[in-house]
Amino acid sequence: MRANDKDMKNKLGTIIEMSYRASDHANQLLSYAREGICFLESIDLLMLVEELSEMWRQQLPKYMTFELCVDSPLPECLGDAKLLRQVLNSLFENAKEVCGEDGKIELSITLDDLAKDCRVRTLKPGQHIRFAMKDNGCGIELAMLAKVFEPFFSTKFTGRGLGLAAVHGIIEKHNGHISVESSLDQGAVFTVWLPIIR
Ligand SMILES: Nc1ncnc2c1ncn2[C@@H]1O[C@H](COP(=O)(O)OP(=O)(O)OP(=O)(O)O)[C@@H](O)[C@H]1O
Ligand SMILES: [Mg+2]
Repeated sequence: MRANDKDMKNKLGTIIEMSYRASDHANQLLSYAREGICFLESIDLLMLVEELSEMWRQQLPKYMTFELCVDSPLPECLGDAKLLRQVLNSLFENAKEVCGEDGKIELSITLDDLAKDCRVRTLKPGQHIRFAMKDNGCGIELAMLAKVFEPFFSTKFTGRGLGLAAVHGIIEKHNGHISVESSLDQGAVFTVWLPIIR
């Protein structure tokens, strides 16, 4: 390859990467503003997660591990595959960004039968798919915990603070719920409940 061709190839690569980032940003804004199109259909979440896990494992630094724990078989849920992919990717990216050496990320998926007196008022009693993205990263101090779903809240130098605001909007559109448990230096767990198809 000639020097000029190589230079052109590098420039094209940068343009393509920037376009993906811009489209990612636009999608996050749309999801946060709840203006994006949400196309709910019957989906096999396990299949979607297995597909993503394969990709995540390939891009994980050598000093980190990822584990998928599934309580199968799981019923199908009503969801928008593209948006749920965005949710899972955002949670995984955040986990990856806060983990250092010996970083561990675990995604567990299980069936959760919610009782009538479930403390989350937005969820109806009955079966839900529950998934939890857990990491052993820097954790979140108590004062910050309530802010993480707010738009434009970020503690990162280059963070836009849109990932979790969009995730929150998407989960609401699915009539689901998201919560976070964390404390400083103790890692974090983001848990999502999605109603199943009855
Ligand atoms: N797994 C995690 N562990 C510790 N802190 C987290 C975790 N996930 C999110 N946070 C905190 O919540 C903030 C908001 O997260 P969010 O994904 O919305 O924005 P961001 O990652 O900073 O930027 P971006 O818009 O590029 O995703 C983060 O800046 C970080 O402080
Ligand atoms: Mg993020």
